[in-house]
Amino acid sequence: MPSSLPNAAPRVAPRVAIVGATGAVGVELLRCLAERDFPLASLKLLASSRSAGREVVFRGQTLTVEALGDDSFQDVDLALFSAGSGLSKVYGPKAVAAGAVVVDNSSAFRMDPDCPLVVPEVNAETLADHHGIVANPNCVAIIAAVPVAPLARAFGLKRLQMATYQAASGAGAAAMEELRASTQAWIEGRPFAPQVLPHPYAFNLFSHNAEVDAESGYNGEELKVIEECRRILAAPELPIGVTCIRVPVLRAHAIAITLEFECVVSPEEVREVLATAPGIQVVDDRARNHFPMPSEAEGQGDVLVGRVRRDLGDLSGRSIALFVAGDQLLKGAALNAVQIAERLFPAAKAQSRSSDLVTAS
Ligand code: A2P
Repeated sequence: MPSSLPNAAPRVAPRVAIVGATGAVGVELLRCLAERDFPLASLKLLASSRSAGREVVFRGQTLTVEALGDDSFQDVDLALFSAGSGLSKVYGPKAVAAGAVVVDNSSAFRMDPDCPLVVPEVNAETLADHHGIVANPNCVAIIAAVPVAPLARAFGLKRLQMATYQAASGAGAAAMEELRASTQAWIEGRPFAPQVLPHPYAFNLFSHNAEVDAESGYNGEELKVIEECRRILAAPELPIGVTCIRVPVLRAHAIAITLEFECVVSPEEVREVLATAPGIQVVDDRARNHFPMPSEAEGQGDVLVGRVRRDLGDLSGRSIALFVAGDQLLKGAALNAVQIAERLFPAAKAQSRSSDLVTAS
């Protein structure tokens, strides 16, 4: 059932607020709105009081960042949240009560049955069930789901196994800065005390920094990836194993994925499905040993998919191994959120940029 909110009828050009506009994802949200010509009746930039008064240029106009507060969502139709789950839990419902539809980038509502968890290429139809809040999935879940979903539809999926190589951006702008600063210190032979991440980051990698469940040994990121992939793929019982690792890369994640299908499947059949699936670029050049890399995924909206080959660990012939890379800040966060917003406000998407009116409020 579509939202029964006062502003449920999509305005032609919505009044938009970005919560966390100064953060790593917030900056990319602004860039995606601009690059995709998303028509806006107005745009409000919200962050902490530390950033209030800061000026940001958007499509040639100077906007002033405001401190997030209880009254921030008056006259807002669409609120894009990316300031952490604590703030989403407090201010998301306030935004909905004020009449806005929320697209939330945090984990706060991802497993709430009232909040669809959406990757538009995979399950856009679930958007119809929202009650004011739509959840943007975990970055690994999005980047994995884009290639896994069409293959699951084509061949039937029995089991999914993944190992991730996750960039600093997933831990925010401060973690990206820690990677830069600690690398510089390492090169200059200076000591560096990590402040954002728990371990030395330069020329190192470590198990994902999310809290580890003492009993199972899985960390919070791995558990999120498992639960969210099952929800996005509409496969609540799907056996999924994953190991999440933080690597010293600034902003694009890579994932080694092994899929066990219901039937024997050849690498050629898999490539054929991937070639026409939305949101994917196949990068699979065996002759040149050229496969998906974070450095080439960076700045791209598509997920790069390659190293398509039989999994020799499964003699039945039903398993295929892949390697993928996707920009964590774009498809893994901001771009997916803006693509959701385009589906929520289709009239806005169709409108031409010439009619935009952007006002700082
Ligand atoms: P600020 O820059 O003012 O701290 P990242 O994920 O890159 O760390 O970004 C987090 C985003 O969330 C930033 O825009 C940050 O704003 C914002 N934020 C953090 N704490 C608050 C808060 N208490 N109220 C509003 N926004 C916040």
